[in-house]
Amino acid sequence: MTSTKPTTPEKVYSVVPRVAKDAHIKGITQYKKEYQRSIEDPEGFWGEKAREALSWFHDFDVAHYGGFDNGDVAWFLGGKLNASVNCIDRHIVTRGDKTAILWESDEPGVHRRITYKDLLTETCKIANAMLTQGVRKGDTVAIYMPMIPELIMTMLACTRIGAIHSIVFAGFSADALRDRIIDAQSKWVFTADEGKRGGRTLPLKKTVDEAIHGVHVVKNVFVFKRTNNPKVPFHPKIDLDMTKIMPLMRPYCPAEWMDSEDYMFILYTSGSTGKPKGVAHTTGGYLTYAATTCKYTFDLQEDDVYACVADCGWITGHSYIVYGPLCNGATTVMFESTPMYPDCGRYWDLVQRYGITKFYTAPTAIRALMAHGKEFVKKYNRSTLKVLGTVGEPINPEAWKWYYEVVGEKKCMIVDTYWQTETGGHIGVGLPGAAPMKAGSCGLPFFGIDFAILDDQGKELEGVTEGRLCIKSPWPGLARTVYGDHHRYLSVYMAPHPGYYFTGDGARRDADGYYWITGRIDDVLSTSGHRIGTAEVESALVAHNVVTEAAVVGFPHRVKGEGICCYITLIHGVDGTNAVMKELTQQVRSIIGAFATPDIIVFVPSLPKTRSGKIMRRILRKIAHGEEDSIGDVSTLADPDVVPAIIANFKHVL
Ligand code: PRX
Repeated sequence: MTSTKPTTPEKVYSVVPRVAKDAHIKGITQYKKEYQRSIEDPEGFWGEKAREALSWFHDFDVAHYGGFDNGDVAWFLGGKLNASVNCIDRHIVTRGDKTAILWESDEPGVHRRITYKDLLTETCKIANAMLTQGVRKGDTVAIYMPMIPELIMTMLACTRIGAIHSIVFAGFSADALRDRIIDAQSKWVFTADEGKRGGRTLPLKKTVDEAIHGVHVVKNVFVFKRTNNPKVPFHPKIDLDMTKIMPLMRPYCPAEWMDSEDYMFILYTSGSTGKPKGVAHTTGGYLTYAATTCKYTFDLQEDDVYACVADCGWITGHSYIVYGPLCNGATTVMFESTPMYPDCGRYWDLVQRYGITKFYTAPTAIRALMAHGKEFVKKYNRSTLKVLGTVGEPINPEAWKWYYEVVGEKKCMIVDTYWQTETGGHIGVGLPGAAPMKAGSCGLPFFGIDFAILDDQGKELEGVTEGRLCIKSPWPGLARTVYGDHHRYLSVYMAPHPGYYFTGDGARRDADGYYWITGRIDDVLSTSGHRIGTAEVESALVAHNVVTEAAVVGFPHRVKGEGICCYITLIHGVDGTNAVMKELTQQVRSIIGAFATPDIIVFVPSLPKTRSGKIMRRILRKIAHGEEDSIGDVSTLADPDVVPAIIANFKHVL
């Protein structure tokens, strides 16, 4: 860890009384009491929460088993349940006519209200369509869909019949989709003809066709219609037109009894190697954790209109658009568009039209909106808002204050939620009725999360300190394995610090026990809240025939949080022209997806390497950060003269 943040106390913002008044957890004393109990008696605490948050076909016998050493963590053993029953059926009697999903299309004001009863009917029809095609419990199903209600219904239909869904964000390229289909051996893919986003049309079905070309594992593609464009290719041998199939299906489908530890879904995420990991979550533990964190973090109440404006293709969408809110019987807003379409007032227009009470977005969106001024915010009535959440990356105090003062008018609680795909739900968050806020801190540990900060040698540090953020004991939402590669699971998360789960993040703990995430300490970037491995971008670049070597590092970016900077050496005889730069940019977009587009490409004569051939990324990072004056010792480099050349080329590009 290099960062040494100040030890001066930061400004503390009090809990907002109108939020605390009826909160589930009122005041810091109640939080501390509950937290203490969750750490001293995790089995008792989580056993109670699992029974409170979910309904079980068969109660569990043992709350918790296993640990980090060999990664045999298991929760709620012997318990039988079904995720879709917990998200839908159990609300039918009391909330059948309540809006479950409030869908806002890309075009402002065009919306659909789906009640819990409707959700049951539509989910069951999809589930029956899947059964008809031979999908069975334990099968993996890939989903590459736009943000339409049928995506949530498909997720719930999978879990209803015990199929393991593997959602691939619809911004991923055909290559990335293919890799994920093959890795999870998904025999079925769900998609839509096209998607709509920010006024643009996304050719989803075309991308699926490209992805599965020559991939024999895929038996069928289920196709929903979003745009009804007749030009979208349809291949009757494998494509199934859901608009024709749905009316034929029975609107009820019995739910599979799943074991608490049966896999519920796989979600791919980036790590320090080029190959994304299929993180696997299980039914009882994940659902308990998603439901409990959602309830307390957003202080969910029956009449809330709750909006998480993420995409279902990422873990935030899984836990906080779908499973968390629906387990709690909430009304969840599903937003197809972007914060900027048709203008920068879109979020607040949504808030006004639907009377949104809890709103959850990413710092990158806040920063982008902030740049366009207050007017777009002030135009709309935001008096219903109570809790404003952020996720995905550290929020800089300036953006935090804008969110708090301009959007929330100092009447809302800001909840900065720190967590990961692997943790299933929030692990660091100040609860809105209980924890005073500090701009830029993710607050306190969530119930059951026993944080530890370690030094580089693995020694646990006490009190006010900074280092490697780990967790001391298992919680229900922890991913159980990397699908098909448990060894990798152990080596990435458990081996770095035996006895602990290693987050990959650095953190600082202050005198009040608040945590401040300082960023990843592995080769993973967080750009616009998306997690991308530098190795993934590097391998996309070197796959181009003009590239000899590539090294990718992050750098502070005003809007995206972290930008992607690529240092590239070209084969002899090829010049680093604008045309080559464009081609390489396109290369990354087509191998990974547009969200991984490089921000800076620097052509260099060679990369800084030690005599043993190791690339010294530290130097490249310093240059990208504009800190070339503090590069330090370069004498261990095989060719120290390369450094000034890289600096000169970097400056030239800027
Ligand atoms: O570095 C942390 C950052 O995002 C990483 C997890 O990325 P992913 O698995 O894609 O999940 C994103 C949504 C949870 C973390 O290791 N991160 C996430 N939330 C925060 C954060 N960094 C600082 N503050 C946060 N609130």
